[in-house]
Amino acid sequence: MKILVTGGAGMIGSNLVKRLVAEGNELFVIDNLWRGKLEYLNDEKKEPVIPLDTHFFNLDLRIPDVADEILSKVEYVVHLADIVAGINYVFNNQGELFRENILINSNTITSARKNADTLKGFIYAGTACSFPLTRQNSLNVIPLREDELYPALPESAYGWSKLMGQYETGLMEKETGIPTCNLMFHNVYGSPCDFGERSQVIPALIRKAIKYPEEPFIVWGSGEQGRAFIHVDDVINGICFALEKGFGKGVTQLGPSVCTSIKEIAETVVAISGKDIEIQYDTSKPEGDKARSADYSKAKSVLGWEPEVKLIDGLRMQYDWIQKQING
Ligand SMILES: NC(=O)c1ccc[n+]([C@@H]2O[C@H](COP(=O)([O-])OP(=O)(O)OC[C@H]3O[C@@H](n4cnc5c(N)ncnc54)[C@H](O)[C@@H]3O)[C@@H](O)[C@H]2O)c1
Repeated sequence: MKILVTGGAGMIGSNLVKRLVAEGNELFVIDNLWRGKLEYLNDEKKEPVIPLDTHFFNLDLRIPDVADEILSKVEYVVHLADIVAGINYVFNNQGELFRENILINSNTITSARKNADTLKGFIYAGTACSFPLTRQNSLNVIPLREDELYPALPESAYGWSKLMGQYETGLMEKETGIPTCNLMFHNVYGSPCDFGERSQVIPALIRKAIKYPEEPFIVWGSGEQGRAFIHVDDVINGICFALEKGFGKGVTQLGPSVCTSIKEIAETVVAISGKDIEIQYDTSKPEGDKARSADYSKAKSVLGWEPEVKLIDGLRMQYDWIQKQING
């Protein structure tokens, strides 16, 4: 299959590209390297898994029409490009982030519409942050179901922007007949990933543990807040199943039914580090939605998907990877 992965140099994208290349597909990538890195597309011998001169395009999807020509060459699109970052960045840049994601998603969908005659499928990456905050504001977690998405009330501009892209993808499917699949990921972790200023909670805590005591081990918020953490390998499995049998089935969540508190993550990271670390909680910092998890029965019945990677194994793998990056 000829497949375009937008955001293909990012955390999820680079893993997906490697997997689909290994399975014998021809992969194209668009990424402006805002957070992704070209080296993420390297194999173990440090060679790029796609020919960069002909199959990688450093294009900014905020600009209309830039993807038109590449989309005319492919059969499938997995649209992953967006502004994704940790809570610090997301809550301090709401207006800009909202506008950028709206532009990225709408421009990509418009380019897809222009190629409706040749496209066989379009996968959109949504997020559990788009669920209403009223279903995520209690520690008494009842796993979220896809039919609870509306009436919409996401907590953040990020959640709203991603929901609008999902909505527009649905309109495209209705109006053009391009088969689409709307996946909604819960909190994805794994490597390669950003572990600096814009990183999400797990890589940020791992960095702090590795750098401790040079950097204090401060957890944002009370630590009581919880998320349904899902390893990137499980997400890649879900996207591959979706390419086979996910089109025309609406919205499907990928995430575990278990909610893990940030306190538990912090304590596990400290245990993995083997260091004597004092954990501090800064309750003046935002912590986002209180808690959530996924009722993944639709993913199971439609895609045959279930999470496989145990959190402790995934955390150990990610710790080792970040440690190697920091220590060179
Ligand atoms: N990581 C998570 O926890 C999570 C959870 C739910 C949904 N998602 C969704 O999955 C997708 C991939 O996320 P990820 O975790 O791999 O993040 P990521 O930041 O690693 O990947 C996103 C990629 O998009 C690229 N990008 C950003 N702006 C762009 C632009 N204007 N033009 C072209 N490329 C641009 C970035 O450089 C980056 O490589 C996103 O759509 C995200 O919303 C991620």
